[in-house]
Amino acid sequence: MSSDSPNITSLELEDRRFPPPDDFAAQANAREELYAEAAADPEAFWTRQTTELLTWETPPTQGVDRSNPPFFTWFADGTLNASVNCLDRHLETRGDRVAFHWEGEPDERVDITYRDLHERVCRLANGLRARGVGKGDRVAIYLGMVPEIVVAMLACARIGAPHTVIFGGFSPDSVRDRVVDCGVTAMITGDGAWRGGKLVALKANVDTALEGAPDVHTCIVVRRTENEVGWVEDRDVWYHDLVADQPAECAPEMVGAEHPLYILYTSGSTGKPKGILHTTGGYLTGVAATHRWVFDLKDDDVYWCAADAGWVTGHSYIVYGPLANGATSVLYEGAPGTPDKDRWWQIVERYAVTILYCAPTAIRTFMKWGVEYPKRHDLSSLRLLGSVGEPINPEAWIWYRDTIGGGTCPVVDTWWQTETGNIMISPLPGVSTLKPGSASRPLPGITADVVDGEGRSVPLGQGGYLVLTEPWPAMLRTLYGDDDRFVETYWSQYEGMYLAGDGCRRDKDGDYWLLGRIDDVMNVSGHRLSTIEIESALVDHPKVAEAAVVGRSDETTGQAIAAFVTLKGDVVGDEALIAELRQHVATKIGGIARPKSIVLTDDLPKTRSGKIMRRLLRDISENRQLGDVTTLANEDVVSDIAGQAEKARSADSG
Ligand code: PRX
Repeated sequence: MSSDSPNITSLELEDRRFPPPDDFAAQANAREELYAEAAADPEAFWTRQTTELLTWETPPTQGVDRSNPPFFTWFADGTLNASVNCLDRHLETRGDRVAFHWEGEPDERVDITYRDLHERVCRLANGLRARGVGKGDRVAIYLGMVPEIVVAMLACARIGAPHTVIFGGFSPDSVRDRVVDCGVTAMITGDGAWRGGKLVALKANVDTALEGAPDVHTCIVVRRTENEVGWVEDRDVWYHDLVADQPAECAPEMVGAEHPLYILYTSGSTGKPKGILHTTGGYLTGVAATHRWVFDLKDDDVYWCAADAGWVTGHSYIVYGPLANGATSVLYEGAPGTPDKDRWWQIVERYAVTILYCAPTAIRTFMKWGVEYPKRHDLSSLRLLGSVGEPINPEAWIWYRDTIGGGTCPVVDTWWQTETGNIMISPLPGVSTLKPGSASRPLPGITADVVDGEGRSVPLGQGGYLVLTEPWPAMLRTLYGDDDRFVETYWSQYEGMYLAGDGCRRDKDGDYWLLGRIDDVMNVSGHRLSTIEIESALVDHPKVAEAAVVGRSDETTGQAIAAFVTLKGDVVGDEALIAELRQHVATKIGGIARPKSIVLTDDLPKTRSGKIMRRLLRDISENRQLGDVTTLANEDVVSDIAGQAEKARSADSG
């Protein structure tokens, strides 16, 4: 297993326990009985969930189809539309209820009701149809956190056009790769986005990206920042012009349960991002059910998932789950520290937020900023806190519960992945006894195991590889256009089991403690990045000969990107070149991929067969005792690199 894993021993010492408070337990949506009910007959359990939670045009008579593993399907003979489930069916009972309290980063606020959202979605769906976009066509969405990002996703769903949302922080190259891989023909973007007081030039990035994507015939542009933008006649159209004359009603395209709802790209352990494909019926069932249980959603809750809609957390727990459940949510455009470090707490107070869901990296940042910021505001409306994206260390968990949650809110640490579609391992608030740092156990209807290298279940108290042992409704169906890679990546290691790629330990009670990735994937601020993608970006620089990238632990971001680079021929390396290389990666991939440190070295540690020994570089980065170096072809290089890395670390902390 990866040596990036947090220290197992320190987790074993964590013995604080938080049983559910009686008053919370008394009113909780989830009940202990759910586990037994689901275990008795998982297929019947999920079929009951989908019947109760969704509105089907043709209710399914089939549950899971296992005839062609690992290509499982769920509810395949049912038909429905996701936008109808998120909007139309709520109009009669809660049309005037706020779906989103939207807050712009500059001081701007708009409340959008279910009726408003429905109208906006219908107009855009009609606009898309008017531009020739229809069922099965792929539409890319590249926007900041404006209401239109939600509108765009649902408008695509309404006409049966799978969307692929590209995180607004990605560079033109990354946009192009995704657009081309996905065979996108229409895009929805904006002139720009506000983030941390700065303007992100979305349209300019799209223009560059689309130079290499001639199949995109339509680019719809939301006006947000009002900066000058380039314009390609016929291809480009302003969003407000397109929707102005469209009717406020739009007949939804009813689709089969297995019709693709979206494709979302995520990093794997090779350079090429994977297009995770989710379909409609099973996915909606999974996100609606888990959103209800894990967040204990009630009619009067104000729910805030502070992720970006460009990641899966935003897809499942800002858009599809909460809207399917008719929730009232907060949608915030900007950065947590703009204009001041209390922005989030201001928002919690303003809307009396009751449920907050965010990533450990945010929590650790707030810890660093200090308690004075949350203390400025009344946070007493909060009743439940959630965490997602990476292991949460017990200190951050306790700080979150005490400082943000007033010492009373349950904290649900939710483990899942882009691939799983919905939360898989998590406490149920009001039912589970919480342990800081543990994601508790698999949710009802989900079955997991921790196995050794041969796929044998390891005894409680031991660590191994996390696997999922039965199909679940919201599971990915394949990697877009690459069934072989789907089978190879997830299903080829152990017969009949999905390999999650995470290390995990179960304690004596059977609770799961996640230990980080086991492959060449890093988790920086809860975002997945592959080492190879960054290495390729570095090697793409004309002065770079070779590069190796590893993740090293970082107090705030979980992992930080540490790069080791050898330069070509007689190129002389200096601080300016290091800065240039860091920027080069940001330009190629996006700011999130900018290496925190770059060490220039004459050589990289390699085995005799020429394979770079990343394990050693990880040890060096973490300032650990070096592992076995006897298989190295070039032993001397190690002490040289270690010296350089030490210098880089002290510069970093200074
Ligand atoms: O390593 C696990 C980590 O994030 C990975 C999935 O990343 P992504 O697909 O980008 O989705 C992030 C949001 C769902 C996992 O393989 N991870 C996610 N949640 C947790 C976690 N690690 C530990 N604890 C969690 N709660």
